Amino acid sequence: MKSSRSALSNKYFKADVIGNISLNEHVKLLSLSPLSVVKIPEPGQFFMLQAGSTYDPLLKRPFSIFGYEDNMLKFLYRIRGKGTQAIAGLKNGDTINLIGPLGNCYPEPQGDFIAVAGGIGIASLLPFLKRFKNRAYFFCGARNKKELVMFNETRVLSKEVFIATDDGSEGQKGFVTEILNDSLLVTRYSLPIYACGPNPMLKELAGIAADKGIKCYVSLEEHMACGVGACLGCVIKTVSGYKRVCKEGSVFDIKDIIWE
Ligand code: FES
Repeated sequence: MKSSRSALSNKYFKADVIGNISLNEHVKLLSLSPLSVVKIPEPGQFFMLQAGSTYDPLLKRPFSIFGYEDNMLKFLYRIRGKGTQAIAGLKNGDTINLIGPLGNCYPEPQGDFIAVAGGIGIASLLPFLKRFKNRAYFFCGARNKKELVMFNETRVLSKEVFIATDDGSEGQKGFVTEILNDSLLVTRYSLPIYACGPNPMLKELAGIAADKGIKCYVSLEEHMACGVGACLGCVIKTVSGYKRVCKEGSVFDIKDIIWE
């Protein structure tokens, strides 16, 4: 039997950068060609990426798997700190260190479902929409039209798409949770929800799910340092005690999370 240590060591690998393109001012799409065999990731799982050879933990960041095809890994990310700035500076031919795939994955839906993405949460949910094509009612929230990414892809993969922007420049003005709360999909059909996005959005979803009595699974975008369960830097409170987002998550049943 393999020890957990050797199982983990198999997850450390290097990859060459084969693309790192800007989709808007803040969001980029990174494509990597691994230099060794990689375990096929499931939607909802993530990798730790580290640009450069230094051991600065701030340069190691968690990225949800966005795509895995023809032995190529894809990551959609928002530039928002030292680690992602370093990744944004990578050029074709550069080599990067990775650990993964890590964490659990979204549980399989039994029928149609609702997917809710806030901002860059689409990075985690798009592979799930792809896996269960034409079964999702997709709700997407963004600050404005410019911040909406992968708009056409989600239309092709979903039964129907609902958009909300803070300034009303695309779709309905307001929060995506407001459209969802009034939707027959939750009030009448009680479809399960799969979501990824900022914590205020997820907190709202927790209220909606509890109120309507529907299942809801969320991927938490917590700050992580090690990504492998060692540093306790990503701990959250749940009904069954403290849990590490990187190890026991990053996907949780929303009713188990205690929001503070
Ligand atoms: Fe270190 Fe989760 S990031 S324990």
